[in-house]
Amino acid sequence: MEFKKKNILDINSLSASEIEFILDTADSMKEINERPVKKVPALRGKTIVLFFQEPSTRTKLSFELAAKRLSADSVSLAASSSSMKKGETLLDTARTIEAMKPDILVMRHSMSGAPHFLSKFLKCSILNAGDGRHAHPSQALLDMMTIREKKKTLTGLNIAIIGDISNSRVARSNMRGLVKLGNNVRVFGPPSMIPFKIEEEFNVSVSRTMEEALSDADAVIMLRIQKERQGANLFSTDREYSRFFGLNRENLKNSKKDVLVMHPGPVNRGVEITPELADSEISVINEQVSNGVALRMALFYLVSGGSKNENSD
Ligand code: CP
Repeated sequence: MEFKKKNILDINSLSASEIEFILDTADSMKEINERPVKKVPALRGKTIVLFFQEPSTRTKLSFELAAKRLSADSVSLAASSSSMKKGETLLDTARTIEAMKPDILVMRHSMSGAPHFLSKFLKCSILNAGDGRHAHPSQALLDMMTIREKKKTLTGLNIAIIGDISNSRVARSNMRGLVKLGNNVRVFGPPSMIPFKIEEEFNVSVSRTMEEALSDADAVIMLRIQKERQGANLFSTDREYSRFFGLNRENLKNSKKDVLVMHPGPVNRGVEITPELADSEISVINEQVSNGVALRMALFYLVSGGSKNENSD
């Protein structure tokens, strides 16, 4: 297959076969990360700019490592230390970056739609590393990669997404991707954190109880409470949240025996998930992080025309 997408802005604009092709490519990248010398020349001579306007540990580090492992030159710019602090607009900042001829811009922004907006003006590829509540495509792809790797399939599975759905770009991107590939997605959380008409918009079901959400589940994706995006208090205390919406071993008694416990991170231990479960044998949280590097290597490779090069050999 020749991958023709220049930008990765959201999951909605990828077809099921494009998602599977990205996951296949990421699987083939994994082995590079196990080598004593973790570097291949695939993107030698390419320049990648990481522009992050919000805090990040996993996404920024793994995009940066992915660039280095493919031998690209990568540079980082934090919005907090950029000239946006002096009043420069996002578009002018992006045009300034582009004038220095990067091949790929990876951006995280608090405004939903910011990377889509810039993609109309910039010639370089844009990879969305999370925009507001809207989309976090590389996170959903690495989640799908991890589920597929563990379950040996990515269709017909029961997947529960639990927590602060309203404010979660991870939930939105996962719902789009998992449903597109034919999985049954149930969501559960405080009613104040479940978007209106989510069933119709995303083709998922809303569970009334934790038990219902987790019944026969193949995987459960727990979400962080996004206090930074909640205008008002959507629940009373962390303790109350943990009691009714947190995951513990007892909750999983009616799930599949080989249920996967997932979390995009950062985790609020003891709130969304008990520490015991987060560190348990059924947790794949660290595997998600490891797969994130391979997945982002695949994205860089594919938007740079990697699949085309292979076909033209
Ligand atoms: N999952 C995720 O996006 O984590 P960071 O905010 O640390 O990048």
